[in-house]
Amino acid sequence: MKFKIIVVVAARPNFMKAAPIFVELKRFKNIEPVLIHTGQHYDAGLSKVFFHDLSLPRPDAHLGVGSGTHGEQTGKTMVTFEGILSKHKPHLVIVVGDVNSTLACALATVKVRCANKDYYPLLAHVEAGLRSFDWHMPEEYNRRLTDAVSDFLFTTEPSGARNLEREGIDRKRIFFVGNVMIDSLMRFKKRAEHSDILQRLKLEKKKYALLTMHRPSNVDDKRALRGLLHVLRRISRLLDVVYPIHPRTEKMLKQYGLSADFLRIVPPLGYLDFLQLMMNARCVLTDSGGIQEETTVLKIPCLTLRNNTERPVTVSEGTNTIVGKDPEKIFSAVENILEGKIRKGKCPKFWDGKAARRICRTIDAHLRNP
Ligand code: UD1
Repeated sequence: MKFKIIVVVAARPNFMKAAPIFVELKRFKNIEPVLIHTGQHYDAGLSKVFFHDLSLPRPDAHLGVGSGTHGEQTGKTMVTFEGILSKHKPHLVIVVGDVNSTLACALATVKVRCANKDYYPLLAHVEAGLRSFDWHMPEEYNRRLTDAVSDFLFTTEPSGARNLEREGIDRKRIFFVGNVMIDSLMRFKKRAEHSDILQRLKLEKKKYALLTMHRPSNVDDKRALRGLLHVLRRISRLLDVVYPIHPRTEKMLKQYGLSADFLRIVPPLGYLDFLQLMMNARCVLTDSGGIQEETTVLKIPCLTLRNNTERPVTVSEGTNTIVGKDPEKIFSAVENILEGKIRKGKCPKFWDGKAARRICRTIDAHLRNP
């Protein structure tokens, strides 16, 4: 008998996490993987290019959920994903990360059990247990609620199990497997070295900073955005700041009538181009989650434009520094980097390119022998 497993993707940070899992699942003869795209991200630059760069097959279904309020987006995803569950009747659903679709598909999966006495789909959450303890972040709700209902909780770093156990999650459901995002980084690093993005943008290695900024707390709040732009202007006098802009930020800059023309703004980039830019940057300034992890492995200094991180190992072992939104702290951190005061850091345990293998072996063993 074949076990059907649905892998859910939805938004940009999901693709590089799901890709290695999907590839690995395909190696198991007794497993039939099904790829479902909820359509939370729909712009080609946030979605399609990743399928190409990561050699992901076309999804078996695209739910076309799109944007909306949190309730709309989450609700619409639940309804459409319920249809997918009744069509495919998977044995297990795998959700990754912490976006709205992660939670929506998790809830839809476990709720199907209540209405069907004879059907009990299992749920696995990849990147479980991360906590920012910041309830202003929609992702914090998504993480906690998804973890609360998952049968398999695959963690990336030691803080994951600690957080989950504190929340009363049975230790037997928690598996420390490492970081699937790093599986992709290791698999595609060589290919990324061939990207011609530096020539296209006329950049020299180590002579620019790379910026990503899209968190609602940084870009939806006019004062916060203006403050960040102010310090970025100062930084841009020291070195080029390359900014692949996120549609949310583009929209907010227009809405507030703010200018960012001192930055080297480029459209959102694909996985390989972005990896190449990260590898050769003098430093990275970001409010993203995954980039804190990728820079740790690449040993590139990372300044996180947030007051907290759900990925503490990147600070304790990696190259990440939490600088928040304080302009002086941000500016002096950049000055320090330019003066060569940088931490080398080390690669956290199990960030070794084999996380997807550990996940799939665990799942396979359980499905064979529940
Ligand atoms: C989402 C995730 C966030 C992740 C980010 C990565 C949630 C709550 N947030 O945030 O965790 O870090 O993705 O990018 O799930 N838009 C487009 N094209 C698209 C998608 C969005 O133009 O393909 C615009 C729309 O105006 C939309 C806005 O961006 O309203 C925000 O999109 P949304 O998916 O709600 O959240 P992100 O900010 O992308």
